[in-house]
Amino acid sequence: QIVRLVDYRPSDFLIDSVELDVSLHPTATQVRATLVVRPNPDGRPGAPLVLDGDELNLKAVALDGRSLAEEEFEASPQSLTIMQPPRQSFTLTVETELNPTANTKLMGLYRSSGNYCTQCEAEGFRRITYFLDRPDVLAVYTTRIEADRDEAPVLLGNGNPVESGSVEGSNRHYAVWEDPHPKPSYLFALVGGRLGRVSKSFTTMSGRAVELAIYVEPGKEDRADYALDALERSMVWDERVFGREYDLDVFNIVAVSDFNMGAMENKGLNIFNDKYVLASPETATDMDYAHIEAIIAHEYFHNWTGNRVTCRDWFQLCLKEGLTVFRDQEFSSDERSRPVHRIAEVKTLRARQFLEDSSPLAHPVRPTQYREINNFYTATVYEKGAEIVRMLKTIIGNESFRRGMDLYFERCDGTAATVEDFLEAFAEVSGRSLSHFARWYEQSGTPRVTVKSHYDKAAGTYRLDFTQSTPPTPGQPNKEAMAIPVVLGLVAHDGSSVEAACEQVDERGVFILDKAADSLTFTGVTSLPVPSLFRGFSAPVKVTLDLPNEELLVLLQHDSDAFNRWQAAQTVAMRHLAALSNGAQVSDEEIDAFSTALCSFMDTDALRDPAFAALVLTLPSEADIAQEIGKDVDPDAIHRARSDMRRRIGKTCSAHLHRFYEELADSGPYSPDAASAGRRALRNASLDLIAAADQAAGEELAAAQAESASNMTDRLAALSVLTTLPGAAREEAITQFGERYRNEPLVMDKWFTLQAAIPEDDTLERVKGLMEHQAFSIGNPNRVRSLIGSFAMLNQVQFNRIDGAGYDFLASIVLRADELNPQLAARLLTAFSTWRMMESTRREHAQRALWTISRKPNLSRDVGDIVSRTLDGD
Ligand code: ARG
Ligand code: ZN
Repeated sequence: QIVRLVDYRPSDFLIDSVELDVSLHPTATQVRATLVVRPNPDGRPGAPLVLDGDELNLKAVALDGRSLAEEEFEASPQSLTIMQPPRQSFTLTVETELNPTANTKLMGLYRSSGNYCTQCEAEGFRRITYFLDRPDVLAVYTTRIEADRDEAPVLLGNGNPVESGSVEGSNRHYAVWEDPHPKPSYLFALVGGRLGRVSKSFTTMSGRAVELAIYVEPGKEDRADYALDALERSMVWDERVFGREYDLDVFNIVAVSDFNMGAMENKGLNIFNDKYVLASPETATDMDYAHIEAIIAHEYFHNWTGNRVTCRDWFQLCLKEGLTVFRDQEFSSDERSRPVHRIAEVKTLRARQFLEDSSPLAHPVRPTQYREINNFYTATVYEKGAEIVRMLKTIIGNESFRRGMDLYFERCDGTAATVEDFLEAFAEVSGRSLSHFARWYEQSGTPRVTVKSHYDKAAGTYRLDFTQSTPPTPGQPNKEAMAIPVVLGLVAHDGSSVEAACEQVDERGVFILDKAADSLTFTGVTSLPVPSLFRGFSAPVKVTLDLPNEELLVLLQHDSDAFNRWQAAQTVAMRHLAALSNGAQVSDEEIDAFSTALCSFMDTDALRDPAFAALVLTLPSEADIAQEIGKDVDPDAIHRARSDMRRRIGKTCSAHLHRFYEELADSGPYSPDAASAGRRALRNASLDLIAAADQAAGEELAAAQAESASNMTDRLAALSVLTTLPGAAREEAITQFGERYRNEPLVMDKWFTLQAAIPEDDTLERVKGLMEHQAFSIGNPNRVRSLIGSFAMLNQVQFNRIDGAGYDFLASIVLRADELNPQLAARLLTAFSTWRMMESTRREHAQRALWTISRKPNLSRDVGDIVSRTLDGD
């Protein structure tokens, strides 16, 4: 059934404190929960107490110490109802028995490589004990964990450790953890296992001593050093930039190898997918290091945005996720290069969120209904949610934004808040109404902004005419105008900036487009300028601009805004790629004009900021092009167009590319810092284009690099170039890599991904073969995503094979995975969300595969929800 935002009502009962006693056992873990419950003054008087459960096995239930008689309660695996609970505070004791080894859903208490761990967000706590498993019920928790000493020498819980000892007459021991901060059940966690540890002391700005520790598989301790350093930097940053300090004596992070998502912000005990903790130069790429830094920061920042201030209900998920993504993005921008990081953010936003927003799965940043909340941990809630916070900051200014955050924390600390509470703080400090702006939370779909320019030389005026519209999305046929912040400037053809006046543009260059159509007139403009619009990507919209390519390329050379320099090159490239994909001819002169602009850009800029140059040299992906074309997509044509353009650019720019490849050669020991990573990125982007233009040269360089690289970034980049070049050298390199890293699961993931992305007809067979590889396991989310997920998401031509075999394959895997892990299956299934934009033959094959899934009996709610929305679009 469907949960609706409009049906929200406060809980009839509150739980003030929880004592959990967990005795770990591989197949028969005993859980005793002692809950202090009282009627909620805001609830319905006299209501029964209905606790949530999920696949639970009830052993005993007592109220104020008295065992309940059969007619006093009703129990099923899904719920426990106390028919006539007392009208004042009482104690309920509930005993359940769990089998963590059989828990393949990876929700609740489960085992990963023999260690015990938990995942409770969103609704996993109810798989541990019966509870009011909703985020607006906040309690203080004491957890006693007991386990066999050999099986689980390390026992961790939320909050601070208060006691530990031996259990007499056995080989068991226990630890007691106390969390003084009231929290919702989704932030509960415990861990028990054999784990190695790295640690460091930290003193907060007010002088609190905190012991930071990261727990990993024994023997891999040194691979956690970078994460530990990132954690410390995050703590310092949050104090400096937001004035937020940590609030417990310990902060623990545990890396586990079986995890559905990236990581989880449990109070004082973050649990991570190990791929976002473990890094060494030999096993992790520059991108892995950047992700680790960002996710460590993200989960740490949740301590204030998520934990201290939590969400009233799951419709408010963006309140913590969008805001926390914004915070981790700002952190990474401060720690690395702001423009380079901004471009990376926008690339992901477009690839994932714009795609989602134009698909049958489109939904508002704050959804109004759901069948399965796990399906709403989406790019829209996270990434578009972060863009809303960024726009808010642009609109009210840095200073008001910081004061608004302070007020939000002050007012909402210790509460379960809503999006309205958040906006109210900023409206108050800025004295602005944000009611129109709030539409960003409600209206789904990506707004399109079209801009037309008019120059009147005689009058010295320059006019920009803006119009906006948002396409229909499921459940929202008609759209209203949004409040869109446009950060803009005018650039002269010679690169000087144009000083022109316009009333609606403030001194920061900000104009708020909040009507369906509006115009800006600049006066005192003495020569034709080039408009630089949406600087820094100031709003998550699609822009259509009537500028010719030559003028856009002026921006690539001269704009003071680095984002728009990159954007200008992308826009021109995309125009050519879309034309080529649609079967149009693009003349050599046109491609040359673009390549020549790239060459002069490389002359002046590339070595000053190699990371930025690497981004400029990278063409939009095949998926980006498909999205741009939008309908009757032929992935084969897109693949040919992109390969063709890479070849032509590689030829024209050959001298530059070879020079970069030589000058940027690896020197000295590996360091993951942004500047070193940037040099590797430019060198490897150069190698890619060299290979596109000259197979033999590319193959020779790449094969040598794959063999001799001193770090994973360069080794993998070389192998990735080789995968575009069919032949013996490639197969040899693939085999060697597979042998070399056979015992490194996270590296084998990269190996799976590379092979799954090969755009050749035998790749599907290769993928099926790799499912039999000893390193693959259908129960491990990282393995499944790197092999099957990559095939479906990265390999446009082979997933969308014209014979439909790619679709049938994914459908069969989704059904298989659904029996073990519905969340994982539902994620894989989202690869079908582009099916409507394919040409008709593929569309029919995809629809048939989706029907096959939807007809299967006993589908999980996760998969059932995605398949029905993907088919209906409504
Ligand atoms: N709150 C986590 C994060 O973004 C994500 C956990 C989502 N888990 C899930 N099963 N839906 O940091
Ligand atoms: Zn988060």
